[in-house]
Amino acid sequence: MSESYLPSLLTDSPEAGFQLAIKLSRLGVKFTQPDAEVRDRLRPQYAQNADSLTMASQVVAINFQTVAAANNYWR
Ligand code: HEM
Repeated sequence: MSESYLPSLLTDSPEAGFQLAIKLSRLGVKFTQPDAEVRDRLRPQYAQNADSLTMASQVVAINFQTVAAANNYWR
């Protein structure tokens, strides 16, 4: 990742902000487990597990709080 993967927290809309929150969440996983083969192998497990999906959603929600605050809640 040579170019900036997080040039700005500012987004044009809440929807774009939510996409950024998803991106941040996925990047967290990628930095935590850099091995794509391992991530690919684990993907079917969490994709089929309600608690894992709920936890993933929670991480997105936490990141969305930060993005929303940075954008002054798009007011
Ligand atoms: C796919 C989000 C945790 C591995 C995806 C997709 C989303 C997502 C939205 C679908 C992308 C698409 O089909 O366009 C998240 C979030 C996570 C999380 C928010 C938790 C914060 C994990 C973990 C692993 C993982 C823990 C494995 C260690 C993968 C893989 C794919 C995937 C391999 C398939 C990528 C592809 O098909 O190109 N994830 N994920 N994710 N995720 Fe996660």
